[in-house]
Amino acid sequence: MISTRFTEMFGVDHPIAQGGMMWVGRAELVAPVANAGALGFLTALTQPTPEALFKEIARTRDMTDKPFGVNLTILPSITPPPYAEYRAAIIEAGIKIVETAGYKPQEHVDDFKANGVKVIHKCTAVRHALSAERMGVDAISIDGFECAGHPGEDDIPGLILIPAAANVVKVPMLASGGFGDGRGLAAALALGADGINMGTRFCATQEAPIHENFKQAMVEADERATDIIFRTYKNSARVARNAISQEVVRLEREGRPFEDVAHLVKGARGLEGLNSGDTDHGIWTAGPVIGLIKDIPSVAQLIDSIVAEAEAIIRERLGKMLDATSARRAAAIA
Ligand SMILES: Cc1cc2nc3c(=O)[nH]c(=O)nc-3n(C[C@H](O)[C@H](O)[C@H](O)COP(=O)(O)O)c2cc1C
Repeated sequence: MISTRFTEMFGVDHPIAQGGMMWVGRAELVAPVANAGALGFLTALTQPTPEALFKEIARTRDMTDKPFGVNLTILPSITPPPYAEYRAAIIEAGIKIVETAGYKPQEHVDDFKANGVKVIHKCTAVRHALSAERMGVDAISIDGFECAGHPGEDDIPGLILIPAAANVVKVPMLASGGFGDGRGLAAALALGADGINMGTRFCATQEAPIHENFKQAMVEADERATDIIFRTYKNSARVARNAISQEVVRLEREGRPFEDVAHLVKGARGLEGLNSGDTDHGIWTAGPVIGLIKDIPSVAQLIDSIVAEAEAIIRERLGKMLDATSARRAAAIA
């Protein structure tokens, strides 16, 4: 067991979170993550209405009695979803842990805190982590440039971003983006984080509620098989490389406005692909950690293997390096 400020604060066995994932963060995935001793998040906006989210929370509770949370992603939109109503459903359902992501979560943080809900805010820059800390969040999850989804516009990889954030952030912090095995967990702890958050790696598990073809595509892909789209609209998103992402990149290179790519990147189109198994039908979110994915384990097997590998690295591989140094010094003195 690896005990950190994160495991203590959120009452889970392992310093591992499954971040919010549009279309994927449903009861089928979140319950096994909770049962395996990690912290899973349902994705609020995957549910069509706040009432549906309330029911999805109840459905998850039927499948686990361990803690789990809900992700609320706040993105700019022409017709924004009823965020306050989703928030009310989360509170009314008795959820005690929320992952917020996106823009200016102050009003949400205030309401969650007033109702005894712990908030982990996910962000992509040290300055945003500090601003969330000032807003009163309980923990930070910081996404490096490697992450699937929205990496921000600064392009700072985790190897720099995590220790830079750890230097100044006082609340517990998860490292996110590019994590998929025990080596990553040990590295994140060494860089100053209290645990890891993963998205892509959880998509390639038996329980992830997406078509088998996507899981197989992740096993077959290498670490180069992602694209950054929407860079020219200052809303960068990292997605799996496919026919659609390549077309979007091409149109952006031509300087086309968002209206010209909107039909290609519609959420409904992505969902159709996820359900039908056509990996070229729409865009789908994944990070370059796909290059490390070689199998499709159960969620419990994945979490157990990550923890066991991290423990072995810390205790044996790194420990033996120290032992060997001490032995050489002792021999030199003798
Ligand atoms: C399929 C998928 C959908 C995602 N959707 C969301 C989302 O709706 N809201 C959010 O905050 N993050 C979302 N993310 C980001 C993850 O929560 C997490 O921060 C990211 O995947 C970490 O990088 P990794 O994929 O390298 O582990 C998504 C990631 C994936 C893979």
